[in-house]
Amino acid sequence: MALERTLSIIKPDAVAKNLIGAIYTRFESAGLRIVASKMMHLSKEQAEGFYAEHSERPFFGALVEFMTSGPIVVQVLEGEEAILKNREIMGATNPADALAGTLRADYAETIDENAVHGSDAPETAAREIAYFFSDEEICPRTR
Ligand code: PPS
Repeated sequence: MALERTLSIIKPDAVAKNLIGAIYTRFESAGLRIVASKMMHLSKEQAEGFYAEHSERPFFGALVEFMTSGPIVVQVLEGEEAILKNREIMGATNPADALAGTLRADYAETIDENAVHGSDAPETAAREIAYFFSDEEICPRTR
């Protein structure tokens, strides 16, 4: 199995609900290592840049407004098949479709405010990690 890295975001709704620790526990309990982490309050430009591929979607304005509505926590998760594992931990984009026990089933109410983001493929993960972190900010485990 491949050792991968993926970009994860705890979105403003989950930060506001004081769920940072609970969500980190889910990642760590599943064997994912947090190798970079920072809290940020995105500017409109930063949010638009991150979600640029969705700029023509009807929900783009609402998505940018939501993602700039409060602080987020951004992290790089590392582990065996980290991209797929994180997406399994998160559950479906729409919380109504998310399997029981997933973050979105437990902590999100609507598709507009769905608690977490996770990269969906290796190329996306590489781009998204580089969007938020320099190489020096990523700290692989030494023990
Ligand atoms: S798709 O069709 O797979 O490209 O889209 P998807 O990955 O499901 O969604 C892309 C991101 O947009 C968010 N999203 C929405 N925001 C607001 N309103 C609506 N209706 C909506 N639908 C999707 C969704 O949460 C995704 O955000 P991320 O951060 O990637 O999870």
